[in-house]
Amino acid sequence: MSNSDPIAQASTEQHMPRYYAQRASEYERVFDRPHRQANIATLQAWLRAQFSGRRVLEVATGTGFWLPAATAEAQSWQCTDINPEVLAEAKAKPLDFERVKFQLADAYALDLVAPKAPSPFDAGFAGLWFSHVPVSRQAAWLQQFHQQLQAGARVVLMDNRYVEGDSSPIFRIDSEGNGYQMRELSNGSQHEVLKNFPSEARMRDLLGAQVSEFEWTELDYFWTLSYRLR
Ligand SMILES: C[S@@+](CC[C@H](N)C(=O)[O-])C[C@H]1O[C@@H](n2cnc3c(N)ncnc32)[C@H](O)[C@@H]1O
Repeated sequence: MSNSDPIAQASTEQHMPRYYAQRASEYERVFDRPHRQANIATLQAWLRAQFSGRRVLEVATGTGFWLPAATAEAQSWQCTDINPEVLAEAKAKPLDFERVKFQLADAYALDLVAPKAPSPFDAGFAGLWFSHVPVSRQAAWLQQFHQQLQAGARVVLMDNRYVEGDSSPIFRIDSEGNGYQMRELSNGSQHEVLKNFPSEARMRDLLGAQVSEFEWTELDYFWTLSYRLR
């Protein structure tokens, strides 16, 4: 099915942050699925190694499910999210709060580093976020995320793969190719959520010559991408 109504897309996009605020206390149930545990353990170990010794800027931290593993060997870690409700959950995690800090920030309007000021961040991370960026905003989002980081920084993105019979079905696709899922919270409320499943080729296209050391990996339920900014 397709829907070319830009107003429908905009209102779904505007609703997305509120959906995650309402979901904060039940969000991590998604990580309880027994068949995903092997992938999750692999990702936790991989994230720990990726960020060892790094000064990391993370967008859309959410409830911080990955933080205990990912921050374990990092030099410093700046969590950001648009919703205080999810960051409150993250702050309850067993973390080293000398190294791990929290700030409210819109991932589309990052201003942790002023224009032309030197960035303190030599790494960037976004987990399960890129899938929520509309196709038409992907290039610009990457660009302004990169602008917050040092030249040569390591960037790590990871997200869900679409797995038939396991992922929530895509019930419609709009005219620019964004997919939409219908999700239900435990109070019975229904939420339409934009969710994309980009391919390796799409990410190579988007990043092009801006990056080196491009490494794309597919696990059963997740993809990971690690690259270095030029
Ligand atoms: C799928 S969750 C990912 C949470 C976490 N990174 C993880 O891997 O579990 C998406 C997160 O994006 C946040 N979010 C939604 N819109 C945002 C925006 N414009 N700026 C920053 N965060 C946003 C939500 O609050 C939510 O925590």
